[in-house]
Amino acid sequence: MDRNWWKESVVYQIYPRSFCDSNGDGIGDLRGIAGKLDYLKELGINVIWLSPVYKSPNDDNGYDISDYQDIMDEFGTLQDFDDLLKSAHEHGIKIVMDLVVNHTSDEHPWFVESRSSKDNDKRDFYIWREGRNGNPPNNWGSCFSGPAWEYDEKTDMYYLHCFSKKQPDLNWDNPKVRDEVFRMMRWWCDRGIDGFRMDVISMISKVPGLPDGKVPDNSKYGGLENTTNGPHVHEYLQEMNKKVLSKYDLMTVGECAGVTIEEAKKYASLDGKELNMVFQFEHVGLDYDENGKWTTKRFDLRELKNNLSKWQYELEGKAWNSLFWDNHDQPRIVSRLGDNSPLSAKSIATVLHFMKGTPYVYQGEELGMTNCSFGRIENCRDIEEINAYKDLVGSGKMSPEDMMAGIEAKGRDNARTPMQWDSTDNAGFTTGKPWIMVNPNYKEINAEDELKNEDSVFNYYKKLISLRRNSKWSELIVYGDYKLLDEESSHVFSYIRELNGRRLLVLCNMTDRDINYKCDSKYLSSKELLISNYKDAALTEDMNLKPWFSAVWEI
Ligand code: NOJ
Repeated sequence: MDRNWWKESVVYQIYPRSFCDSNGDGIGDLRGIAGKLDYLKELGINVIWLSPVYKSPNDDNGYDISDYQDIMDEFGTLQDFDDLLKSAHEHGIKIVMDLVVNHTSDEHPWFVESRSSKDNDKRDFYIWREGRNGNPPNNWGSCFSGPAWEYDEKTDMYYLHCFSKKQPDLNWDNPKVRDEVFRMMRWWCDRGIDGFRMDVISMISKVPGLPDGKVPDNSKYGGLENTTNGPHVHEYLQEMNKKVLSKYDLMTVGECAGVTIEEAKKYASLDGKELNMVFQFEHVGLDYDENGKWTTKRFDLRELKNNLSKWQYELEGKAWNSLFWDNHDQPRIVSRLGDNSPLSAKSIATVLHFMKGTPYVYQGEELGMTNCSFGRIENCRDIEEINAYKDLVGSGKMSPEDMMAGIEAKGRDNARTPMQWDSTDNAGFTTGKPWIMVNPNYKEINAEDELKNEDSVFNYYKKLISLRRNSKWSELIVYGDYKLLDEESSHVFSYIRELNGRRLLVLCNMTDRDINYKCDSKYLSSKELLISNYKDAALTEDMNLKPWFSAVWEI
């Protein structure tokens, strides 16, 4: 059993724009975060993942960076950052930065130079190609609708942008690009940060020749499979590890859309040559339909359980899992898998927090914050939603009503409504006008009330986190083996964790109905209840599991 602090941690993701505004401009900022460290300490997390805070024109809310070594004006200054880092460390909380280096902003000086002429020094920092008979160089589509290529008149060539046209892809095959990125990473590490979450890091190596992608039904464009898990990605990460990561004591997690189990074993291998762990997205794609994400389709519990369990089994002893339901790109899990009720939030949290891996909590998840009814596209702020609406509604492929329903079920803005601190105006997020609408349910769901209420979702999360981090079961929760039970049940999510002869039974009703449950007699020797969202949960042979019942026993 190889112990590491990052395996024993619970991470809290902050999307700074929506967390807490200290100066009344309607946009969250670093001082706002610093003012909430006591809250985070109370929750019990020990690592913050900070979504990007660097200088950015905000075409994609900071995921388009124009200066990696400075702070976005709206968020504050480098001094504010240093103060936040120092204060976080004093609170016993580490800070992991978002590293967005598959692409920069088109306003980054490297790109400004690169586009200025064909023989500029920085030309080869990005991916430029000639057109193909007056069309883009290949058929790739951008993740944010439209082609992945933008024509640039000045030099009569196209540049690649897998995301918005203001996010040109860096050319990682150029060693000078890698050196610049590694230099910048060391600069942050020397400032004292504790790790990196690496944005779409599985996309940094493109297949040579940039061959066309497969065109899915219903699409004009080819997919981006030739940008994902490319031929040199592991080589580049090993180089990064040698030159930067291995020199510090860091937590690293790679965002790896499209990663297979085989690939994940390389990215997050326990031999420590690349990263500590990856975010994989298979489970959060299971409620998409044949046309993609803009659908109200719900999860099938069996599929979900089997998928999560597959990752538990397959990485065992080889690589490390990250565990998450929510992040800034996902709708709220309590709406998506639950029924918006606190009971469902607790049951959903239980199944995740007892699995093997490092859990991530996304701001507001610990309150049971829900999806938001935006009503009209004018209320949405996310470039992905806005572009998709224009594309799909504009072309008549979807009606405005269906598209809005899809956005309200799956859109990224659901995660980005302001953090609900209290029941005062704007949920206590800002004294100004918030950059995005506040979810109107803040009077019922907010941190101030939940801190006071023993039965709140917040206090349940607090308990889950403390069980994992500081209890007599910590070692078992972090390092124990996992075994799924009741595989065929479409109502119950249950499993065993086991370490050195000690066992936990996790049993959750994932429906809003009473469910009859027959417990296997070999698990009936309940010793101690660790947590439950109902009072007096007893483990018996024939049980009636109340709606969204959850409990964990040592057996
Ligand atoms: C993944 C990030 O999580 C998402 O928010 C962003 O839009 C894209 N990468 C592009 O950076």
